[in-house]
Amino acid sequence: MPTVLITGTSSGIGLAACELFAGKGWRVLAGSRNPDASLYKGKSIEPVRLDVNDPENVESFFREYEKHKMPLDCVVNNAGWGVSLPFEDTKRQEVAEMFQTNVFGLMEVTRHACRIMRHQKRGIIISVASIAGLVGSALYPIYVSTKFAVEGFSESLAHEMREMGVTVKIVEPGRVQTKFFDRAYAPIEMNRVSEPYKHLAERKLAQHVQSVEHYATAEQIAKVIFEAATDGTKKLRYPVGADALEEIKEKRTLTDQEFFEKMHEKFVG
Ligand SMILES: NC(=O)c1ccc[n+]([C@@H]2O[C@H](COP(=O)([O-])OP(=O)(O)OC[C@H]3O[C@@H](n4cnc5c(N)ncnc54)[C@H](OP(=O)(O)O)[C@@H]3O)[C@@H](O)[C@H]2O)c1
Repeated sequence: MPTVLITGTSSGIGLAACELFAGKGWRVLAGSRNPDASLYKGKSIEPVRLDVNDPENVESFFREYEKHKMPLDCVVNNAGWGVSLPFEDTKRQEVAEMFQTNVFGLMEVTRHACRIMRHQKRGIIISVASIAGLVGSALYPIYVSTKFAVEGFSESLAHEMREMGVTVKIVEPGRVQTKFFDRAYAPIEMNRVSEPYKHLAERKLAQHVQSVEHYATAEQIAKVIFEAATDGTKKLRYPVGADALEEIKEKRTLTDQEFFEKMHEKFVG
């Protein structure tokens, strides 16, 4: 039975991925800040405490894992979050916290996964980035920066790890119907946007409300994560969701400036 470790599994994409992998016969280590066995339906899902923001917890988790000499077939870096705010209204603490979880925490988990998989001479590391790792977006400057960082890190690491037998992959969802947006839009709803940016925030929120029912589901993203884990290829990127595919296509076919102007029109009008 192959083993996968998934981070950020209390909801959304992480939870859907746990259930899909378990349904396909994998042993799933469901990493969470607050593991709660009642969340998971699959019998082969083991909730484990893994707070990517706590390097000591991450270190001790992997050291303990290595003692059992069980192969680790796949790691899915999924834990992540963001707030939607103009840069000027984003607190320094929020910048640090978003980078902590989405980039530094992901790197901590990946550091241990690389060591274990290098010794095994095989393994797959999948990071959940985003269309926000490929295309800039007003009102998400910090979240976008974290996901651009995940893209650059993962692409670079893929070069280093391939000859060790370890494949690094990136899943790039467009917008997905999860709790992500409850948190992302909370600061706008709490009136934290300063006057010069209010029209942008209103526009952003209105676009979200209008289109949320067309967003992809967590289950659709989980399917692509599973495909990345099992397709046997060395493919690096897995974009997923109609909106992500459309934006990537436009980014390729338009000139850089044409694409920027098109996105600017969308964000600013
Ligand atoms: N929803 C979207 O539109 C979308 C689009 C593209 C990419 N993504 C990415 O997909 C991944 C999963 O997000 P989701 O949409 O499934 O959202 P979600 O339902 O909010 O799940 C995010 C998970 O990340 C963990 N997490 C959240 N805040 C955290 C924090 N401050 N510190 C550490 N862990 C935290 C939580 O896991 P625990 O509570 O179990 O620790 C949570 O279950 C994220 O990396 C997100 O950036 C989402």
